[in-house]
Amino acid sequence: MSDFRQAQWNEPILFELGHKGRRGYIVPEVEKPIKQEVGDVYTLLPEKMRRKSLPKLPELSEVEVVRHFTRLSQMNYSVDLGLYPLGSCTMKYNPRISDFLASLPSSTQLHPYQDEETVQGILELLHTLSKWLAEITGTKEVSLQPAAGAHGEFLGALIMRAFHELNDDLDKRTELIIPDSSHGTNPASATMAGFNTLVVPSDKTGCIDIDALQAAVSNRTAGLMLTNPNTLGIFEENIQEIAGIVHDAGGLLHYDGANLNAILGKVRPGDMGFDIVHINIHKTFGTPHGGGGPGAGPIGVSEQLEKFLPVPRIVNDGKSYRLDYERPHSVGKIRSFHGNVSVLLRAYAYILSLGAEGLKEAAEISVLNANYLVKKIRDLGAYELPYDAKRPRKHECVFSVKSLSKETGVRALNISKRLLDYGIHAPTTYFPSIVEEALMIEPTESFEKEELDRFVQALRIIAEEAKANPELILNAPQNTSVARLDEVKASHPRTMLLSWNAYVKRNV
Ligand SMILES: Cc1ncc(COP(=O)(O)O)c(C=O)c1O
Repeated sequence: MSDFRQAQWNEPILFELGHKGRRGYIVPEVEKPIKQEVGDVYTLLPEKMRRKSLPKLPELSEVEVVRHFTRLSQMNYSVDLGLYPLGSCTMKYNPRISDFLASLPSSTQLHPYQDEETVQGILELLHTLSKWLAEITGTKEVSLQPAAGAHGEFLGALIMRAFHELNDDLDKRTELIIPDSSHGTNPASATMAGFNTLVVPSDKTGCIDIDALQAAVSNRTAGLMLTNPNTLGIFEENIQEIAGIVHDAGGLLHYDGANLNAILGKVRPGDMGFDIVHINIHKTFGTPHGGGGPGAGPIGVSEQLEKFLPVPRIVNDGKSYRLDYERPHSVGKIRSFHGNVSVLLRAYAYILSLGAEGLKEAAEISVLNANYLVKKIRDLGAYELPYDAKRPRKHECVFSVKSLSKETGVRALNISKRLLDYGIHAPTTYFPSIVEEALMIEPTESFEKEELDRFVQALRIIAEEAKANPELILNAPQNTSVARLDEVKASHPRTMLLSWNAYVKRNV
């Protein structure tokens, strides 16, 4: 294994680095208003709207800023550095052409309050993207507004509410069913939308237990939320039967699109029987994400649910594109303007550059890579593949280190930390919760065989280390810029100081 050492800079924050009076860029004074093609656009604000004092910003030269962020980036790990097998998160390569398109002034210099006639280009682009997504998912119409997968789930649940309300059925239909392998956001979204969640267990093959589902549905069922392939990477082959059971009970089916990468161009959620489909654009269509953003979670719906989609809808009346707010059954507005447009533009570029065949190939290679890892990791003997090991996985696989852990005291978390020492990002750990000591691995299509082999080699060395010197793993990582962070503290809003002002206030 090649040596990996992350840079360790004791980097101050920009405010601490700055010096009074230092400048990076000086904006030239503009004396006369500039007349532009569309109306009068003034580059100077009228006197009465201008600030009286300068904003409190750090004062630095350009090169200081560049060095600051370069040093920070050296202490980070990214998908541009190497394997990032974070299961369910689909950390694939983010093509530069997508970044290029999203940063063109023709989109970045637009304002969402501009007149519709002046933004026909971007409206056309977003409209086209929504049509492509409808085609890919097998749905009738798509809204691009949700800002993340979880937001798409929430919107899906709101649409279920609106549907049952229109049928005068909402008082009764209070339950949203989810499988026990589902992502935590599924029950959270359902609860936020006012439903009670009902959890159905998986059977020994890792799929929904059909008998348990039969027993769970009733006239209280509002719907079911499901990802397919599921979070074990296993395709729910009984999906049409599942859809039939839920529909017969009067419920709707929501597809959690987190795992769409596995089936792109192969099979469509709409054809499986789903009525609502959200797409984690940032995963499947390769836009930069992680650390909480940015994302986009467009949702597609069947014909009967189209009327509930959020406003405004981008429509084409044959001559031009316009925003339609006249939707009496719409659930309303769920995000400002048209959604996270820079992420949507990257997805547009991704789909356009790969084309239908390319998307299908991406899915095929992602599945091939996952199954290559299944074989290689199982051969190591230290990692177990629970749930029907003979069945091929789709885009991801979930291993358990239960036995290794019992034998050595080294747990899944420790193995994940030790992988960092070998220059590999940790897999998702302890998810899905139905697998004890879980390592959830999703290689995606973006990594070469050599990189996958390096990962397997690291897992082999770690299993040996666990037996010979468990302390080494329990104290990992040692080669990274920071070692063990206090994860509870780091995610606690009261201990996080998210702005300089908050920091100053706390320290006076
Ligand atoms: C299976 C599954 N569903 C839903 C989500 C939520 O998606 P997002 O992070 O875009 O909100 C995730 C996120 O990782 C996921 O893995």
